[in-house]
Amino acid sequence: MATRTLGHLALYYVPGLEEPARTLLRDLGLSLVDNGPPGFCSALLDEDSANHHDNLLYLAQMTDAHWALEQKLREQLRGGEAADAYLEQIGMWPEVAPHFGVKFQSLETLEETLRTLERDIAPGGPLHGHAQLRKFRARPGLDTEVDARMAASPAFTGDEHTAFADHIIQCFVRTDLFGLLSSAATIELDYAFGPFFQRVPTFA
Ligand SMILES: [Fe+2]
Repeated sequence: MATRTLGHLALYYVPGLEEPARTLLRDLGLSLVDNGPPGFCSALLDEDSANHHDNLLYLAQMTDAHWALEQKLREQLRGGEAADAYLEQIGMWPEVAPHFGVKFQSLETLEETLRTLERDIAPGGPLHGHAQLRKFRARPGLDTEVDARMAASPAFTGDEHTAFADHIIQCFVRTDLFGLLSSAATIELDYAFGPFFQRVPTFA
């Protein structure tokens, strides 16, 4: 048994946006458990192995003080030069924004998740205006099996930028549901092909 694991992340949604926040977590494949006061739930990353203390998120509404500060931040960010530069940078390269990552053991499950997210982010969908998705495909030319699987993937066109390390896929959801500067403002969705695990990776 592992000595330490990543336990939980606490996500606080903007007042009034509980439903889209829950939709986003459900779209990621998490199982929501209503085991607290109204407005609170636990979100299990893997229901089958859940012990309700590891590998989960807690979702609750942000406090009034948090929301007041968040609104001030949003005002300051509007039209500011530094803010524009930062938002442009993390829009293009979300890896450099504070974020957390969800690891998918199966590429098929990740592909299905991307389909669901794209449906709900599209105009008319419950996440429209609250989330954007950006995909980074596996680096080509390193492994023929990886290349063939990427070419066959319905989730990728081949025009995407490549991931930040070898033999992995990285996709990023940017959302305003949990505040602009929180680690939950960017959620990474990852898959690693077999060769990734054959050495200690380097992130150049
Ligand atoms: Fe990352």
